[in-house]
Amino acid sequence: HGYGRGKGLSFGPIETQDWTVDDVVVPEGYEWSTIIRWGDPILPGGHAFDVTRQSPAQQARQFGYNCDYLDILPSNPRHLRSMVETRRGRRGLLVANHEYTNRDIMFDDSYDDATKRAIERAAHGMSVVEVVRRREGGPWDYLRVAPKNRRIHMDTEFTIDGPAAGTDAMRTVEDPTGTKVRGTLNNCAGGTTPWGTVLSGEENWHGYLITSGEDERDARYGIETGSTRYGWELDDPRFDTRNAGYENEKNRFGWVVELDPYDPTAAPVKHTALGRFKHEGANVIIAPDKRVVVYMGDDERFEYVYKFVSKNRMRDGDDRRTRAYNKTLLSEGDLYVAKFQGDSPAGEIDGSGSVPSDGAFDGTGEWLPLVVDGESAVDGMSVEEVLIWTRIAADRVGATKMDRPEDVEPNPFTGNVYVACTNNSQRGSAGREAATEMNPRNANRDGHIVEIVEGDQTSTWFAWNLLIVAGDPSVNDSTYFSGFPADKVSPISCPDNVAFDTDGNLWISTDGQPSAIQKCDGIFRVTLTGRERGNVEQFLSVPRSGEACGPLVDVRDKMVYVNVQHPGDDGSFAEPTSYFPDYLDEGERGPVGSWRGPRPSTVQVYKKHGGRRWW
Ligand code: FEO
Ligand code: CA
Ligand code: CA
Ligand code: CA
Repeated sequence: HGYGRGKGLSFGPIETQDWTVDDVVVPEGYEWSTIIRWGDPILPGGHAFDVTRQSPAQQARQFGYNCDYLDILPSNPRHLRSMVETRRGRRGLLVANHEYTNRDIMFDDSYDDATKRAIERAAHGMSVVEVVRRREGGPWDYLRVAPKNRRIHMDTEFTIDGPAAGTDAMRTVEDPTGTKVRGTLNNCAGGTTPWGTVLSGEENWHGYLITSGEDERDARYGIETGSTRYGWELDDPRFDTRNAGYENEKNRFGWVVELDPYDPTAAPVKHTALGRFKHEGANVIIAPDKRVVVYMGDDERFEYVYKFVSKNRMRDGDDRRTRAYNKTLLSEGDLYVAKFQGDSPAGEIDGSGSVPSDGAFDGTGEWLPLVVDGESAVDGMSVEEVLIWTRIAADRVGATKMDRPEDVEPNPFTGNVYVACTNNSQRGSAGREAATEMNPRNANRDGHIVEIVEGDQTSTWFAWNLLIVAGDPSVNDSTYFSGFPADKVSPISCPDNVAFDTDGNLWISTDGQPSAIQKCDGIFRVTLTGRERGNVEQFLSVPRSGEACGPLVDVRDKMVYVNVQHPGDDGSFAEPTSYFPDYLDEGERGPVGSWRGPRPSTVQVYKKHGGRRWW
């Protein structure tokens, strides 16, 4: 069919930008503005951001730091349509999460350390913000006070559900039931469900917790015995699991979170049925039999790709307002982990990335069961052990170690699944697994994209191939673009998030280009079918040291959205290296006072209209 043939948004690709460029660069005919920035008030009592007068209470009423996942949903859940076409209209709900904080850029010397830490806890989590615009296709403004505006932070109560909820391993002195936990840690990418909730992955949560080291399984997750970078153990005993009664606090993070942005009173949920690892994100597609299939990556070197298949089926006729039944679908189901097999002779894969003699990196694979029909499929482990120690279960069944699988997302048109393997500097190093057909480069600096072709979304076998082996083709021989001429693509490295537009094209955002290829990170469109398959066209470049997150592409509106995360993180408060997004001139006074440092923000890109703005 005609999807993914480079149709859709019309733009000429931008030039790749040198890593020092501190600007948002968009194609000819487009312009950009922010919708919301770190510190912008979204709840009653929130003041305009003033970097010299922050407080934990203010931050809890303001947009958090380092926005990562992004979606804009229609303001009325009755207007949710299929996964492939959302009519955003003139009133929307912006949902973002806030992965981590960087006190070196956030604070001057006037704050004491305890206040900094409390502000940082309030700057983590998620935000829901109502947005409005005058006409479709025009830019949005956010509303400072609106009924659905909400901040989720480290004091927000979550419900824990699924097979591991309520078990001994989830109980603490603060929560003897094992079903409630305060806060969410290091929320990275995510996904939106057809019933209008947002999923978000708890990624590098291990870095906030101290272990006694007595449980050697903690080492498999990188939880350490020394003090943490955040130092929250100084303020709250639960972050140091050596404290009596808090031994299990570590088991209460590392989950996929589900937030209902339409119900500001509903506690967000941590779903144990989806396993515990360093969740990059979670993306949903509905199988032909209406079961819900969720794809997930565990973003660390030599980790795995997972798939969850719900026990129960989505109801199209669920209550449109409450969506109460569909919100239970992620509580029960089967969990699988991917094993990939290449089809070329091993000798043809030498770690250099050269294409094997059959002309493609490809093969077959299977989804190995971890939990099936409510029972553990792993010898010697109970269901709750498989779900809490999912990495160890996946080791036992012999899953394939990948090059940092980040976003794993199904194309809503074809059901094919795209895995962004961002990089793996240790592939092929001493004592580590060497290159294979599905991870074909040793010391993989630039990453690659795996395309999984499922039999049926719920089947346990699949075919796969590499869509892209990334890099800057002008200086790198080991790139591959599914046969598309490398001299015609935009350079691309370190793919992180993926998304699809309404024409079925793949969009990729990157994280790591500055160090890998000395270019700013950005947003890229990739054509998936036809003669242009593999063509990469850069749409946008983010400011110095920033990571491009999202992205969100709306072809009908001719708009693209991106979260700019950690701009200027190679600088400090005293010596900023980025002035994004306000770029005030020296001596100018804006809402940020005299301080001009970087603020992570949500950016919208829209067509210039007859040379004038929409408004
Ligand atoms: Fe938070 Fe895997 O990026
Ligand atoms: Ca990411
Ligand atoms: Ca995505
Ligand atoms: Ca990343």
